Amino acid sequence: MDVSRAYRPPQDFGTPRPMPLGRLVKLSIDGEEISVTQGTSVMRAAFEAGIKVPKLCATDSVDAFGSCRVCLVEVEGRKGFPASCTTLAEDGMVVRTQSERLRQIRRNVVELYVSDHPLDCVVCPANGDCELQDTADALGVTASRYGLAGANHLDAPKDESNPYFTFDPSMCIVCYRCVRACDDIQGTFALTVDGRGFESKITAGQMENFMDSECVSCGACVNACPTVALTENSVIQMGLPERSVTTTCAYCGVGCSFHAELKGDTVVRMTPNKDGHANEGHACVKGRFAFGYATHKDRITKPMIRENINDPWREVGWEEAIRYAADRLRGLQEKYGPDSIGGITSSRCTNEETYLVQKMVRAAFGNNNVDTCARVCHSPTGYGLKTTLGESAGTQAFNSVDHSNVILLMGANPTDAHPVFASRLKKRLREGARLIVADPRRIDMVSSAHVKADLHLALLPGSNVAFINAMAHVIVSEGLEAKDYIAERCELEAYTAWRKFILREENSPEATERATGIPASELRAAARLFAAGPNSAIYYGLGVSEHSQGSTTVMGIANLAMLTGNLGREGVGVNPLRGQNNVQGSCDMGSFPHELPGYRHVSDPAVRALFENEWQVELKSEPGLRIPNMFDASISGRFKGLYCQGEDVAQSDPNTQHVEAALRALECLVVQDIFLNETARFAHVFLPGSSFLEKNGTFTNAERRISPVRKAIAPLAGYEDWQVTQFLSNAMGYPMNYSHPSEIMDEIARLTPTFAGVSYAKLDRLGSIQWPCNDAAPDGTPTMHVDEFVRGKGYFAITGFVPTDERTTRKYPLLLTTGRILSQYNVGAQTRRTANSEFYSEDVLEIHPFDAEERGISEGDWCGISSRAGDTVLRAVLTDRVQPGVVYTTFHFTFSGANVITTDNSDWATNCPEYKVTAVQVSRVSERSHWQHGYRDFAEKQQHLLEMAKA
Ligand code: SF4
Ligand code: SF4
Ligand code: SF4
Ligand code: FES
Repeated sequence: MDVSRAYRPPQDFGTPRPMPLGRLVKLSIDGEEISVTQGTSVMRAAFEAGIKVPKLCATDSVDAFGSCRVCLVEVEGRKGFPASCTTLAEDGMVVRTQSERLRQIRRNVVELYVSDHPLDCVVCPANGDCELQDTADALGVTASRYGLAGANHLDAPKDESNPYFTFDPSMCIVCYRCVRACDDIQGTFALTVDGRGFESKITAGQMENFMDSECVSCGACVNACPTVALTENSVIQMGLPERSVTTTCAYCGVGCSFHAELKGDTVVRMTPNKDGHANEGHACVKGRFAFGYATHKDRITKPMIRENINDPWREVGWEEAIRYAADRLRGLQEKYGPDSIGGITSSRCTNEETYLVQKMVRAAFGNNNVDTCARVCHSPTGYGLKTTLGESAGTQAFNSVDHSNVILLMGANPTDAHPVFASRLKKRLREGARLIVADPRRIDMVSSAHVKADLHLALLPGSNVAFINAMAHVIVSEGLEAKDYIAERCELEAYTAWRKFILREENSPEATERATGIPASELRAAARLFAAGPNSAIYYGLGVSEHSQGSTTVMGIANLAMLTGNLGREGVGVNPLRGQNNVQGSCDMGSFPHELPGYRHVSDPAVRALFENEWQVELKSEPGLRIPNMFDASISGRFKGLYCQGEDVAQSDPNTQHVEAALRALECLVVQDIFLNETARFAHVFLPGSSFLEKNGTFTNAERRISPVRKAIAPLAGYEDWQVTQFLSNAMGYPMNYSHPSEIMDEIARLTPTFAGVSYAKLDRLGSIQWPCNDAAPDGTPTMHVDEFVRGKGYFAITGFVPTDERTTRKYPLLLTTGRILSQYNVGAQTRRTANSEFYSEDVLEIHPFDAEERGISEGDWCGISSRAGDTVLRAVLTDRVQPGVVYTTFHFTFSGANVITTDNSDWATNCPEYKVTAVQVSRVSERSHWQHGYRDFAEKQQHLLEMAKA
């Protein structure tokens, strides 16, 4: 099924839709009676009725500005010619958009623009997608009476510093659309207009080029520009696209909707979908520009096999590779028992692919040894929210934040990891919402252009539970709790016990001050602010979940929300910001070893019977191995074979040397991926994967929003990932016969109550759906727990603070915490293969100047970082973004070995690794670490073995 349509520039209504939607007003435009919502501009009213008004400075993504004067209209009873973009529609208004006088005025304005604009439309890359060209054509302007001979900007030099777009001032009509987009949509305030009148020109930063300015390459200004002044380099090189396919970004958990715009089979650009519910036309540098990895030369498109990992790879056909993998896996089961093999699903793959992998493991492998990379990020979210609220998911839609008065941002860095949500959040803050940031690091949300957090609580890594308990302690001890809400909606017995616990002195801000490092007075101020609301929302990230008490903190967060009555309506809620694109979906699809799809325990006979009946196979009732258990069992010789789809555990999981030892000990490792990633270097079978542009399916974002992924180009290796899993399952003896992923979704809907109403046809109709979607909520559920919690009454779990075992000592006196950067994504396999590396090309160690000075470390020095797990070497960056005693790095580059340092400490309930707290020592060194030397040798050898296969 071809889901592409011919490319045409998106419809632009000139000014934004007024919000909130109010009463209707009636007016007449060009003799047509029109009803629009109060607050709608005359321009928008005309466009909504299909009447075109010329415009240049107006666009529907930013508020009207009224500078170009080409949109003038006549209004009966009014003097002059008001600008239709800045004039609001009123009851009884009679408007004329066309008259000879208007035409003359508009022509005059356009001729002035044209007198300072190259008239080479025919060779311009934007020919056919330029509003100046359209306006000039509509008015019959082909040349300017003023000529091109006067003072002009035609020779102004281009700014080509950004790898993805070019600014050509000679094409600029100084309409300010880019400036307003950067300010209002992105919230970066990187652009200004320098000079006045004729001298006015757009500049980035302080008269810098784009690359050196604060610009974060989100592309909002490029979307907004009506001419070719700001244009994607890909369009300059290839020209305008011919067709477009609407799909979903494959990077973070925001789940932005995009139009993949193509010429033939080449993606020219990705433009954010104005109708996308998660992003409403906005994007970040990853989804907007970093798609080139999909056709990078490193893509492997032929299946490969080898006997052992020191052998060269051998390229083979699909049939031989699948047969080889199945025979080896079956052979291991015959030799070592049915539980000796398992599988890992990926949060980067679609729901349908993930569902099939867990189904294959349970039905074809005959065990429950299936786990997902969500194990190492948000598994505590699932556990904590299920326990307290009854559902393992966030409670709101992203636009809920538009109604928040107070936002607690805890252990999340949205400007880097969830940029499009960060822009929405910043907008809300500019409107007056208050912000509390609880984070060891001074992230951008603490202080940046037009953003200033009310409080930055720079808590020490590992003290989240003490912090969240102290917040609740203040609220209860000062009588600020929502008594009626608690009495009506929560389990009172559990609440009484919890209340007694939380009032203990050990939970007071004064008592926890030592553990958290937060002055008691600041914590009290934060608690009072949060309790006052009236709409207080909590947004959190991996800085909450990736701890030995991650599940406890999540429960503490849910307690705090219930305590203050902040669940069940817009503007409030508990909102986990999921790291990867489909973390929510991979968990929903039954990827955990103890749960079938829809978070139902494998030990429940009724649940098993449902799946056994549909799948026609007997299922095991005991949970299987989690990822860390698989590694331990591999090292001890009990686990022998692994099928790993789309995950790079050798780089992403903690304690790299332990993971490498586990992978080396496997007798059959089957990796399915688009690149020969770090894990694949230990593999015996490589099955080429397909990128998001090459397949159909769905992703589920952090808001529980199921969004369509649609095939824009044919799979480079011939098959979509779900087809490959199906081949393997069939070869293992368990038949699967889907002909399209929509059939897999139909099966998911049949078996999973929260997905009962989901289908591809409905997704096509609605664009996206937030689950639960069923008879009770046929179009989905934006806000959860509205009248009651999914579990009935809310449950206050006791959340005692147990300090982590990972403490500073004389040998390891600093705490290392890790995170992400805007331009790179997770293990970097995709973004490192794009021009995003021009923004960030290596992981560095952030260290406070005090700690650096004590160690004789200067900016840019090589630093050895050692923990009880291992050691590595990174370059030092001296900054007071981190507090003394804390160091920080990212994990996007293979050679950095950030996870060589992290330990196998993990969350008590879910085994989610404690990435965020590692006791380390840092010293100045002159050589790379032992592990790095070993890594380089092994990587070079494996590359050689790969090249032998290609030769
Ligand atoms: S790309 Fe984004 S951040 Fe950069 S100038 Fe344009 S709107 Fe601003
Ligand atoms: S660069 Fe484009 S959007 Fe910005 S002022 Fe110039 S023409 Fe307008
Ligand atoms: S915010 Fe996330 S989903 Fe949206 S474009 Fe960026 S990476 Fe993609
Ligand atoms: S479009 Fe209305 S003044 Fe420019």
